[in-house]
Amino acid sequence: MEHTLAQIASRRGVRFVHRAGAASTNDLVRDPSFGHGDVAMAEEQTAGRGQQGNSWHSEPGANLTLSLVLTPDFLPAGEQFYLLQAVSLGVADTLRELGLDARIKWPNDIYIGDKKVAGLLIENDICGMNVCRTIAGIGLNVNQTRFPDDLPNPTSIAIEKGAGQDRGAIFEALYDHLMRRYESLRRGETERLARDYHERLYRLGSVHQYSLPDGTTFDGMILGVALTGELQVAHQPSGVVHSYLFKEIAFL
Ligand code: BTN
Repeated sequence: MEHTLAQIASRRGVRFVHRAGAASTNDLVRDPSFGHGDVAMAEEQTAGRGQQGNSWHSEPGANLTLSLVLTPDFLPAGEQFYLLQAVSLGVADTLRELGLDARIKWPNDIYIGDKKVAGLLIENDICGMNVCRTIAGIGLNVNQTRFPDDLPNPTSIAIEKGAGQDRGAIFEALYDHLMRRYESLRRGETERLARDYHERLYRLGSVHQYSLPDGTTFDGMILGVALTGELQVAHQPSGVVHSYLFKEIAFL
């Protein structure tokens, strides 16, 4: 892995740091020595962070737990949702190349069927009006086949493909897909990003159950995601459309 990573990095003129252990790779790349396109990866995180203050579980040495640094200083702070779109699509593209029908579960998960194969933790720094630095934290389950019972619906590429995978090759594909989507954003191809993101949304256009923070449950159909990042859901059977921010709606 070490050798493969060094080769991939030198070919692309960037820096890949590979650690046996780290608290959280998102924190590791906060060091200003990490610039655009650089990556830190750890075989084991002792304080891996997930969404909503959760921790991120990953079997040491089995998966990809990494953070990519981007410097999208062209992007207005109000348009930072495009970064989440670009990173989500980069992960989904990698899985689709492997023949897996990856879907983006709003806002931060990548699913295969009804199971989570990857989670994203994207942290943006704002300087003035624009985003100056993005840390794209990605936890992608690659070769793990057994998970703790308290994780609701995990899967991995190895489970879905029925065979162990070469993590170096998957990392190389992932890095290239992420940078391709980022370059597309930099060129201003936001309509394309939004269209592809929409097409790959998990549960798009079908009726499922959701719940609200007060415990109410309802049937709804996801219509899309606004550019501000809110999930748009048509309640059933009324058809009345509501927009939800992160944490305002849960998938059942
Ligand atoms: C989630 O699904 O809740 C998001 C999980 C994000 C996990 C990744 S692993 C690499 C990076 N470092 C962290 O501490 N978290 C992210």
